[in-house]
Amino acid sequence: MKSVAGAGVVVTGAGSGIGAALARRLTAEGARVVVNDIDAAAAAAVAASCGAVAVAGDAASEDGVAWLIGVAKESLGEIDLYCANAGVARPGGADADEVDWDLSWQVNVMAHVRAARLLLGPWLYRGRGHLICTVSAAGLLTMLGSAPYSVTKHAALSFAEWLAATYAHRGITVQALCPQGVRTAMLDAAGPAGRILLEETAVTPEAAADAVVSGITDGRFLILPHPEVARMYAGRAADPDRWLGGMNKLQRHVEAQHA
Ligand SMILES: NC(=O)c1ccc[n+]([C@@H]2O[C@H](COP(=O)([O-])OP(=O)(O)OC[C@H]3O[C@@H](n4cnc5c(N)ncnc54)[C@H](O)[C@@H]3O)[C@@H](O)[C@H]2O)c1
Repeated sequence: MKSVAGAGVVVTGAGSGIGAALARRLTAEGARVVVNDIDAAAAAAVAASCGAVAVAGDAASEDGVAWLIGVAKESLGEIDLYCANAGVARPGGADADEVDWDLSWQVNVMAHVRAARLLLGPWLYRGRGHLICTVSAAGLLTMLGSAPYSVTKHAALSFAEWLAATYAHRGITVQALCPQGVRTAMLDAAGPAGRILLEETAVTPEAAADAVVSGITDGRFLILPHPEVARMYAGRAADPDRWLGGMNKLQRHVEAQHA
């Protein structure tokens, strides 16, 4: 897909932040968009702001994903592009609650698996389909202050890679949106590490949506609103110990700021 004009699109978690900007940008580009969010009022407001259709509900549970895709198909006909964007960021390390680990796993990973399970059959039959997973630079690198986020975003990236490697020759495009900081409620709620590390270079949700539209045109797997993330990712692969040393230096910097 080089252009989204006329395409049937679902954006999950589009009641705010990146998803809302994406829904607005894609409708402006001529797509027919379903705005999903677990927050019904937020989904309705964003849909009303851009002439999209609101379908509120949980985009992570097995039943929720099935319901969302079913209702979206009634509205759109075929789903040409599914943006698995909903995500949660929970703080903590190994000590984070079981509830937070589980929620992170359900929303950041299994939501993508469950959507792909239902979308792939029709997409493979048609010989085309497009999935954009909102991952994070944390899925390529790490996010100090949140082990559940880092681990589940790595898993989300891994699933997207696996899909792309397995189905590219059958007309399926899979891309991973991996921003660093984006000025949304999630960044506002980030702990000290998030604020210290991400705020300075944070981009607007609209800039992230611009990167997605450019990414759809160029078709590359990684969509990077912060291009410098590519260099960091390469550095991590080339010399893991040096990269870990740098991350630990940042951790000590965060701790010093809060001493
Ligand atoms: N803000 C950042 O700095 C940043 C950076 C990298 C990646 N991301 C990723 O971008 C995505 C969007 O985050 P955001 O920054 O716009 O945050 P946000 O909190 O503004 O938006 C997330 C939206 O997802 C919704 N949501 C949560 N669980 C849901 C579920 N089960 N079903 C449906 N909707 C659900 C929330 O109600 C919310 O409206 C997330 O996947 C996040 O991890 C954000």
